[in-house]
Amino acid sequence: MTEMPRPEHRDSLYRHHVATLSDKTERLLARAGYDRLLLHSGRSHPRFQDDYHAPFRAHPHFVAWLPLPLNADCLLEIQPGSRPKLWLVVPDDFWHAPPEAPASWWADHYDVEIVADADAWQPALEAPTATALIGDPADFGTLGRHADLNPPELLGRLDEMRTVKTEWQIECMREANRIAMRGHQAAAEAFASGASELEIHLAYLKAAGHEPNTLPYNSIVGLNEHCAILHYQYREVSPPRRSRSFLIDAGADCHGYAADITRTYSADEGVFGDLIREMDALQQRLAGRMQAGRSYVDLHREAHRGVAEILRQSGICDMEIDAMLEAEVTSTFLPHGLGHFLGVQVHDVAGQRAPDGSPLPPPSEYPMLRLTRELESGNVVTVEPGLYFIPSLLAELKEKPISGRMDWRAIEQLVPYGGIRIEDDVVVRPETPDNLTRRG
Ligand code: GLY
Ligand code: MN
Ligand code: MN
Repeated sequence: MTEMPRPEHRDSLYRHHVATLSDKTERLLARAGYDRLLLHSGRSHPRFQDDYHAPFRAHPHFVAWLPLPLNADCLLEIQPGSRPKLWLVVPDDFWHAPPEAPASWWADHYDVEIVADADAWQPALEAPTATALIGDPADFGTLGRHADLNPPELLGRLDEMRTVKTEWQIECMREANRIAMRGHQAAAEAFASGASELEIHLAYLKAAGHEPNTLPYNSIVGLNEHCAILHYQYREVSPPRRSRSFLIDAGADCHGYAADITRTYSADEGVFGDLIREMDALQQRLAGRMQAGRSYVDLHREAHRGVAEILRQSGICDMEIDAMLEAEVTSTFLPHGLGHFLGVQVHDVAGQRAPDGSPLPPPSEYPMLRLTRELESGNVVTVEPGLYFIPSLLAELKEKPISGRMDWRAIEQLVPYGGIRIEDDVVVRPETPDNLTRRG
């Protein structure tokens, strides 16, 4: 498990984090009419017809309190007026290593009871008090009858609570960004030396000191045309005959919090390299606008305008900017959203809801946009505009009436480079946003 530097700083941030969550949760429970909240960390299940388990990761509502993303079957009880109580499961088992012993910097804020298995805390479910329980119904069966399991209204408010981060959460993401950037540096060097996708992936992990199982998401490591596959999931063992381009979308974890970073590189100084520089300038402009009060939908529209300008300036499309946007040409080249909330979950919760819980669906022309809110200070968002040459989307564009306005020869020369995405993690502030990825 990663440690942040400067333990005194860590201890006071975490103390403040727990105090903030306790305070907010008490108010939510009072409003919803509950006396206590139980958060389950989740259970590890074997694969179907197998005795092997998928890598375990604790439920996000539990990890939002406790830096224990790998601890299965624990239960946290929050009761207004008392210290939170943690049943920490440490199995009595010689097949596996036990989880790390509680560290005082976090454990001092809880009444910790170490137990061998979940049977030890099951009687606590039966206390005759109004209880909300957050967990997977499959893990509780009839035991869940003693509590309200995942009441939607409370769940929505708990999600909302996670949209404005405490300083502890922000520092965890800053550290996750530092770790990930060490990996990105090594990955760029491996690409420059002609490495395969698998070799680059391994160079990333080694430099970041990270296991693949605890990454916040499966790294995307693509060379050449693979840069155009938005969630490319494989890694070729051998290098291609010629590496033209490289896109890596890879993160890191610190105490359960994610970094989510993308970089794109060109092996030559041609048009693709120019496009990367222009996309980087656009991305930085947009990252500088992650300010409280701005609509993320408007920022997404600005990203499309920026892509339209790049398409026009590079001669790929000769239409006027407004006409290009009207005809939705940019959606061929940027088919995903500008970004999303980031936190315990890579695609963190409540991105398409107003603070009062009412739905905020994305505009019909941008259905993939995950974040549709007005930004608030303390939100953490990704800023990840892209410009891709995706054969299936280009084929659709070719059929449209505006096809004649495109320079298809130029596009054909760019298809072998795949595409570009540049992604940073940014804390929204009233004036100058705090870019966690570029500030070390
Ligand atoms: N790494 C997934 C994403 O950027 O949303
Ligand atoms: Mn990403
Ligand atoms: Mn992302």
